[in-house]
Amino acid sequence: MCGIIGFSGKLDAKKVILEGLSTLEYRGYDSCGVCFFDPNGKFNIIKSTGKVSELIPKVDKEETSAVHVGIGHTRWATHGGVLTENAHPHHAGLVSLIHNGIIENYLSLREQFKLTGSLEGGTDTEIVANVLNLIYEKNGHDALLSIQMLTKIIKGTFAFLIMFEDRKEEIYAIKHVSPLVCASSSDGAFIASDITALIPYTKEFSVVEEGMVICAKRDSLVAYDIDTLKKVTLKKEEITWTIDTAKKDGYTHFMLKEIHEQGSSLDNTIRPRIVDGEIDFTNDNIDDEAIRFFKDIEKIQVVACGTALHAGKVGANVYQDVIKIPIDDYIASEYRYNNTLINDKTLVILLSQSGETIDTLASLEKAKEHGAKVISIVNVKGSTIARESDYVIYTHAGPEIAVASTKAYTVQVASIYMLLTYIAYVRNAVDKNFVNNICKNLFASIENIDKALKKEEDIKMIVKNISSSHDAFYIGRGLDYVFSLEGALKLKEISYIHTEAYAAGELKHGTIALIEEKTPVIAVCTQKNISSKLLSNVKEVKARDAYVILIISEDIEYEKDLADIVIKIDKVDDRFSVFPVAVITQLIAYYTAYDKGLDIDKPRNLAKSVTVE
Ligand code: M6R
Repeated sequence: MCGIIGFSGKLDAKKVILEGLSTLEYRGYDSCGVCFFDPNGKFNIIKSTGKVSELIPKVDKEETSAVHVGIGHTRWATHGGVLTENAHPHHAGLVSLIHNGIIENYLSLREQFKLTGSLEGGTDTEIVANVLNLIYEKNGHDALLSIQMLTKIIKGTFAFLIMFEDRKEEIYAIKHVSPLVCASSSDGAFIASDITALIPYTKEFSVVEEGMVICAKRDSLVAYDIDTLKKVTLKKEEITWTIDTAKKDGYTHFMLKEIHEQGSSLDNTIRPRIVDGEIDFTNDNIDDEAIRFFKDIEKIQVVACGTALHAGKVGANVYQDVIKIPIDDYIASEYRYNNTLINDKTLVILLSQSGETIDTLASLEKAKEHGAKVISIVNVKGSTIARESDYVIYTHAGPEIAVASTKAYTVQVASIYMLLTYIAYVRNAVDKNFVNNICKNLFASIENIDKALKKEEDIKMIVKNISSSHDAFYIGRGLDYVFSLEGALKLKEISYIHTEAYAAGELKHGTIALIEEKTPVIAVCTQKNISSKLLSNVKEVKARDAYVILIISEDIEYEKDLADIVIKIDKVDDRFSVFPVAVITQLIAYYTAYDKGLDIDKPRNLAKSVTVE
């Protein structure tokens, strides 16, 4: 969702802010804006709908003298349409601010502070700027006190960066739920919505914690406790991502680069945790207490959103009969409000690339309130979900910039496999041979991913028939159906082709009515025990003249002429076909969207990190 960057220091703030905004573009947005001081010391706020590239010439035109303090924002509209006046920063009197989140009581604040009539646009944020300005004027221009008073009356989620016109060097920051990180170096102080914007400047960062107010100046970065307004310490963490990991490296899109990185990211995820054929989570702080808990649990609940949910579903399906206790998977936005039974013998596994997805975070809070223990599988270090969980397993995939998740999915699958294998082992549900075999297959999957990537040229040739369609289907049975859910999500989110994933046996109960001549049907067939049934369903759609692409394991026999296109994957253990199938389906989605000339890395209406409900 919204991207945020602020800087006060020696460098050219325009450059830092605009480059930061470009880096944060991947989060998904529809308008953007910046605030600097003009040569007269007044706010210079410049905004634009559309891309950062449309904002840059406006900034270049307006501002001539060097600026060293500024804030910038990319907006993903929630309240109020995509209009220049609704873009941030919002300005009122001596206050200019940017915001990620939603202020729920903005209407009552508008009434309380009698703001009707003085507002330009329709956003909750503009009301907050006005309210803060009134408080600031009334309280002798005391920034910390005014911010403290503001936080007492606003309700909702927020990350704010605030500039005051009479405080030329300072940027203030507060947050509730929505993430913020900060860093200081000899160049100055930086605050941003995520660490990707900080990578060029520093190797260390701090998470802005709940209940802190940050004051960033040219030569200092100070945190205060919001209640006492006394100084508190910022904990430092290392940034392990490099600037190169956040660059395209010659690939046409980040998505394609990230698809290709999957072998090495899988290696990064599994190698530190597989020692002599056994799984070792010591470095993830899975301690004796955790092991005692694993032995005692009565059920496991896997909770996530989107692609992360699909990875969780794969794990839940594979390990259901291995651990021999119920493992259920839940959509986080449902789980947080449903009446699922959770107790102190429940283990909740959360999966999240960003570690900031609001519904997953709310599920975490619910699970803990009911006494469950939470392990999260997260990619972004220091993210909220990682910090709030009882235990965290970092996936070490490096930054995933494309909105469509690819490498994060495969490492999430590997992580949940390792975790559930480990739990099964400590519960004596499986023996060492089982564990050795899982580890061996995980390592073999690195090579299997690379082999699947070799199909890229073939896939480029077949997407024409998909890209010209309005609708498409993925079908599968058992695990192949679960893989299909992810294949369909990938195709629809970047190619805008309506794609349904269907359990193949269920088609004839209604949905087969939608199959007509040339409807693309991508059938996934890697589960040997059920392959003959799936192939019968393929025949049914072929008989209705569908355009069939069959993704099939090389050791499964099929009738000639069953499909228009056959993509074979190498014979692997059924539980591990997830890796090559993921690569093939990601490439199908990528090249279909490419053929349609779409904005693959930043598909319409989507955000990388979904921090609102
Ligand atoms: O950051 P998270 O893994 O929690 O994000 C969850 C979903 O929003 C995400 O997986 C989304 O479905 C993907 N971008 C789709 O490719």
